[in-house]
Amino acid sequence: DESPLRVSVIGTGYLGATHAAAVAEMGFTVIGVDTDPAKIAALEEGEVPFYEPGLPELIRKNIAAGRLSFTTDLGAAVAASDIHFICVGTPQQASSHAADLSFVEGATRAVAAALTHDGLIVGKSTVPVGTAQRLRDMVDAMVPTSLHVELDWNPEFLREGYAVEDTLRPDRIVIGGASPWAEGMLRRLYGPAIEAGAPVVTCDLPTAELVKVSANAFLATKISFINAIAEVCEKAGADVTTLADAIGYDARIGRRFLNAGLGFGGGCLPKDIRALTHRAGELGALQAVGLMQQVDEINMGQRQRVVELAMSTCPVNILNARVAVLGVAFKPDTDDVRDSPALNVAAALHLRGALVSVYDPEANATAKRSFPTLTYAASMEAAVTGADLVLVLTEWPEIAGADPEVLGRLVAHRAIVDARRCLPAQAWRDAGWHTATLGSAETEAPRARRVVAA
Ligand code: UDX
Repeated sequence: DESPLRVSVIGTGYLGATHAAAVAEMGFTVIGVDTDPAKIAALEEGEVPFYEPGLPELIRKNIAAGRLSFTTDLGAAVAASDIHFICVGTPQQASSHAADLSFVEGATRAVAAALTHDGLIVGKSTVPVGTAQRLRDMVDAMVPTSLHVELDWNPEFLREGYAVEDTLRPDRIVIGGASPWAEGMLRRLYGPAIEAGAPVVTCDLPTAELVKVSANAFLATKISFINAIAEVCEKAGADVTTLADAIGYDARIGRRFLNAGLGFGGGCLPKDIRALTHRAGELGALQAVGLMQQVDEINMGQRQRVVELAMSTCPVNILNARVAVLGVAFKPDTDDVRDSPALNVAAALHLRGALVSVYDPEANATAKRSFPTLTYAASMEAAVTGADLVLVLTEWPEIAGADPEVLGRLVAHRAIVDARRCLPAQAWRDAGWHTATLGSAETEAPRARRVVAA
C-alpha cells in the first residue's frame, strides 16, 4: 500500500515538537497532540516554548505547506493517522531514581482506546528496558482483534541545540520489535534519512530500549572519565585538555565528549544514568550499577569542586562577595536549565552568602523561573560590573570569546574561574587576571597567586 502515511505525534515537548516538524518536512501529514492547550495554541502560531535553533522556522514552513497541525483532541488525531508516535516525557520520580512512566503509559492507553482502524504505535520516549513489552501487552489486551495494531520502539537520539539536524539526519535509526509490515512503514517514513545514508538497526524491543539508555550512559561515562583524569592532572601538574587532544587522536577513543570541567547536566544524561542504575539493580546486573553510580558521583563531585575552587579563588570573603556567573544553561545553544551544573554552582554560592549576578545569552528567563532569588543581568558587562570574582560556567561562544581587557575595566578584582576550560588562559593572564580552572596545575595554589592578581 503506497497511500501517503498520516502521522500523529503524542506529546509536543522537545522531542515531539521536533519529531512532528521533521516528519512533516519529509513530506508526510502530521498532527501534533498535547494536553496543554497553551502549548498547542503557541505551536499553531509557529511559536516554540523553548529555544531551539531552526525549529520555529521549520514548524511555520510546514504549517504553511498544510502538512503540520496541532490539536488537544487526541481522539481526532488518532482517527486521522496510521502511525502514532509516543513522545511524552519520562522524568525522574520525585521519590526515587526510577523513571516516572505514568505519561508514557497514559498516552499509550489513550491512543489504544482511540484507535478506529489498523495502525502502528511507535514509542520514542526513553524508557527502562522491559517497558515496551508491558505496553505492547497492554495494547494487545485493549484493542479488538478485528484491528491490526502493533506497538514497536524507535528511540530518539536528538541533542538539544541540534534537534532539527539530528532528527532530519540521524546517525542511525533503531527499529525495535517490528514485524515486516511495521518495518516497511517505518522505512517508508524515514526514507529520506535512509537514502541520505542513515544506517537502520532492526532488533527486539529490549535491545531498542537499551540502545538509547546505553548511548547516553556511555557519553556520561566519557565525561566522568575525563573529569577523573582531570583531578589526576591537577595533582600531577599535567594539562587535561592537551591530554584529551592526544588520546582523542586514537580513533578507538575519539575526541568528542572528552571536555573536562563542570560535568554533564540537562534533562537526559543525569536522569538516564540514574534510571539505568535503578533498572540494572532490579535486574541484578550489579556491575552496571557500580559503574553508573561512580559516573554519577564523579559528575556531582565536579560541581562541588568548582564551588570550592570559586571560594579559594575569591579575593574577598565569599560572604557578600560580588560573584558574576557567566552562563547558566546546562550547555551552550539551549535555554534549558534542567539539572544545570551552572545553576547548581550559582545557587551554592548564593547560599554561602555571595551576591550572585547571572548572565546567560538565552537562559536568564528559564533560570529566573527556577531560581528567582539570584540577580539576572541583561548583558555580560552588566553582570561583571563591580565583581570580585567571575565564573565561566557555560561555554557559549559569546562568553568564551569575551575580551579580558573590556571586562577587566569593569570588575573590582581581576579573578576568574573557568569551569569549562574554554578561555584562552594566557590571554587573560596577560591582561592581569588571576585565572583558575579544574584539570591543570594552576588550580593547585590559587591563594599564593592571589597576591599577584590583586
Ligand atoms: C544528550 C545526548 O547527547 C543525546 O543523544 C540524547 O538524545 C539526549 O541527551 P543533550 O542532553 O542535549 O543530549 O546534551 P549533550 O550535548 O549530550 O550534553 C550533555 C551534557 O554534557 C552538557 O551538560 C554538557 O555541558 C556536558 N558535556 C558534554 C561535558 O561536560 N563535556 C563534554 O565533553 C561534552
